[in-house]
Amino acid sequence: MMAEVAVFETVAAMRAAVAGWHAAGEAVALVPTMGALHDGHVALVAEARKHARRVIVSIFVNPTQFAPHEDFKKYPRTFEGDRARLEAIGADAIFFPSVEEMYPAGFATRVLLLGPAAVGLEDRFRPTHFEGVATICCKLFTQSRADFAVFGEKDYQQLQVVTRMARDLDLGITIVPLATIREADGLAMSSRNRYLAPEERALAPALHQAMQALAARIRNGEPLAVAVSETQMQVIGAGFELDYLEARHAWTLAPVTALADGPIRILVAARIGATRLIDNIAV
Ligand code: PAF
Repeated sequence: MMAEVAVFETVAAMRAAVAGWHAAGEAVALVPTMGALHDGHVALVAEARKHARRVIVSIFVNPTQFAPHEDFKKYPRTFEGDRARLEAIGADAIFFPSVEEMYPAGFATRVLLLGPAAVGLEDRFRPTHFEGVATICCKLFTQSRADFAVFGEKDYQQLQVVTRMARDLDLGITIVPLATIREADGLAMSSRNRYLAPEERALAPALHQAMQALAARIRNGEPLAVAVSETQMQVIGAGFELDYLEARHAWTLAPVTALADGPIRILVAARIGATRLIDNIAV
């Protein structure tokens, strides 16, 4: 019989369970999510399971990482489906706190970020986003006292920001990255893909194809600046509104000018209609 997944709505309940697991010598891995789970999240849970006997998935649509004009209110909330999915794959627990549990009255603290959070990529278009992400992740890490946390490479700058923060603040947790899970046509899986109208969904994989072609050109030694700017024009010509498409150092996210400056990561953010897609690949 399938074991029921435990649902913890309070920090105290989650901590009590984790204390018991730790006392029994069991490692704990956390998979932080905002719900609306898809196969990419299932892969994160499977990866978590490789590192720890116990896996907690947090589901919290974090208001502090959304700007006022962004989609916080309409962000998909599908708890019952998410719970069934996590039960089917054998997650041990869901942490499903309220906004009040995470940000009680009087909450007045934020994590201040430098380094990979301030390199002119997502931060240029979403100036308060990473502060919100880092604050909630810092809370989730210390609340759960998990040994590992698994993050997808899909949000590549987020992964670098959280990894840096965990090291810099000695949070005592190991950040485990997982390669992006893609649809058969190359589109990176994302909870926001469900916003795409059929014709937008048909266009979306062109972004991944453009990045792959650019990576091949860079590997072949073509002048980087030319290859990048031609790809930007091509993506705009295909019908995307481009926020950025850049080649950066894979670890620091600093600008690069040649293949020898690498390892290089190509990162993109582009809009189709009202939906903003982000993606990245290694060169
Ligand atoms: O990647 C996400 O879903 C969110 O940014 C995270 C890490 C769960 C923090 O709210």
